[in-house]
Amino acid sequence: MPESRSSMAPDTSHRARIIDGRATAARVRAEVARQVAVLAGRHGVTPGLAVILVGADPASKIYVRNKGKQTREAGMRSFETLLPASVAQAELLDNIARLNADTAVHGILVQLPLPRQIDELAIIDALAPHKDVDGFSMINTGLLAARSSGMVPCTPLGCLLLLKEYVGALSGQRALVVGRSNLVGKPMMQLLLREHCTVTVAHSRTRDLAEECRRADILIAAIGKPGLIKGDWIRPGATVIDVGINRISVPSPDGPREKLAGDVDFDTAVHVAGAITPVPGGVGPMTIACLLKNTVIAACAQNHIDPGSLSG
Ligand code: GUN
Repeated sequence: MPESRSSMAPDTSHRARIIDGRATAARVRAEVARQVAVLAGRHGVTPGLAVILVGADPASKIYVRNKGKQTREAGMRSFETLLPASVAQAELLDNIARLNADTAVHGILVQLPLPRQIDELAIIDALAPHKDVDGFSMINTGLLAARSSGMVPCTPLGCLLLLKEYVGALSGQRALVVGRSNLVGKPMMQLLLREHCTVTVAHSRTRDLAEECRRADILIAAIGKPGLIKGDWIRPGATVIDVGINRISVPSPDGPREKLAGDVDFDTAVHVAGAITPVPGGVGPMTIACLLKNTVIAACAQNHIDPGSLSG
């Protein structure tokens, strides 16, 4: 009987190419900064991004701080609205209406998740669609599914840019998206379909996830379970994009410490995949870079400027 895959020893002499999200994100941000300078110099327009943070979740606070810093570094205006966790839905809606009407604000992002008393979908749909730089509103979701215009959610867009850089031609490739969230899994599926991939979406009820993974030339893991996807689930030579950012506790001589872990078991996957994103340093940096890119696109649209005219 042939030896089963799971009992085969991995070829530890093989090491996948490491997909350097930090380097790609830095290039995207540099291009954004260049476009911002052209927008200001030629058109007198400075793109503005407003972020609303409700409550004081430590991870959300770090994201929001980084967004503000990178927005300013790219030469754009950054606006922050901080609201208490107890905020009423009506007050949050008032803030969105104010930012929708502010012509200095071209993009608005409401940091998710929101506290329980808030209807998240109602908040997202209150954003003016042309300022919805997250691309989560009903209009932008529909545009992504049925047209090629509209705002594309930042994390899946970042994954796509990495795939284009490291894989190249995506047409006809078998892609598996693990996770069906509105933030990542579903828009990722749409983007890969648009690139002519054969796309499967797996989720918590998928029957044999390991077998689904083994068929994929491109594997996108976005399910939020640390180390779920093992090396022997991966097709040799496949490209693995790990969207998971999970905080786990690991032992250390000074007691347990927190570290970030992806949804893929990197230490085994790196000996099987052709290319793989690390966590941290893979997809994470691409999200904010794509947010800045979307803000420039929004500022162009609101000022009737062709974004293509900003290219170097
Ligand atoms: N929380 C985690 N990721 C995201 C994101 O991409 N956008 C928003 N608005 N909130 C998030």
